[in-house]
Amino acid sequence: MRADMTPPSDPGPAAAREMVRVEHVSKRFSLRHDHSLKQLVFSALQRKKLADTFMALEDVDLTVRAGETVGLIGFNGSGKSTLLKTISGVLFPDDGRVLLRGKVAGLIEVGAGFHPDLSGRENVYLNGAILGMTREQIDERFADILAFSEIEEFIDTDVKYYSSGMFLRLAFSVAVHTDPDIFLVDEILSVGDEPFQRKCLERIRELQEAGRTMVVVSHELDMLEHLCSRIVVLRKGRIVFDGDPGEAVATLRAS
Ligand SMILES: Nc1ncnc2c1ncn2[C@@H]1O[C@H](COP(=O)(O)OP(=O)(O)OP(=O)(O)O)[C@@H](O)[C@H]1O
Ligand SMILES: [Mg+2]
Repeated sequence: MRADMTPPSDPGPAAAREMVRVEHVSKRFSLRHDHSLKQLVFSALQRKKLADTFMALEDVDLTVRAGETVGLIGFNGSGKSTLLKTISGVLFPDDGRVLLRGKVAGLIEVGAGFHPDLSGRENVYLNGAILGMTREQIDERFADILAFSEIEEFIDTDVKYYSSGMFLRLAFSVAVHTDPDIFLVDEILSVGDEPFQRKCLERIRELQEAGRTMVVVSHELDMLEHLCSRIVVLRKGRIVFDGDPGEAVATLRAS
């Protein structure tokens, strides 16, 4: 369940306001196998169960306060993207709930919400609308979005002809111009070339200085350690560490 936070949950002026609260969230997926008729008959004869579920997230509790940049690290398949998608509302938890204050925007997957048969320009409008901008707001920011992406001469080309880096550049540019209260970033910095990565990091720092709240997923542990005020380590769908960035990275590297 997602809902706006009610004022009574406000911790008061002493602590920054809670922007995200994840309470006891679990997410189950079914393990779907492709079965031949022979396997099906065989397992029926042996009375073995074929379909099974597993927990991608298990009893996850997480609070993110205004102005924090929280890193989310863990090995492949540990549940990082699932947790971000649950926060963004793309996925609904099976148990528990997510409470949010304000508008969430994020790059959950590079170019999610981009349509291959539309031009870069058309996709900026489509994606901007998905991320909650009005047509007027996109018109106003279009020049900045384009300039940031540096793909000017290709803006009217269908995005199916874009390289993965060009795709990322445009997607990132749209996302950082949406002005969200909570910014979710999932492993995007690794696709761009070095100059663009640097530019993205600078932009993220600007957002930090402007007091924006961020949750950033990445396998680039050294970069995250410097960027984040706090890092959460996920292992097999469970939070195993939440705190000092250096300790978090050491915890993951030791496992
Ligand atoms: N829609 C889905 N249906 C079934 N299983 C899923 C689905 N989405 C994710 N999973 C499974 O949930 C587990 C966690 O996946 P998730 O994408 O959250 O991992 P991750 O930590 O982001 O990994 P990576 O570092 O590779 O990006 C994986 O085992 C994955 O196969
Ligand atoms: Mg992922």
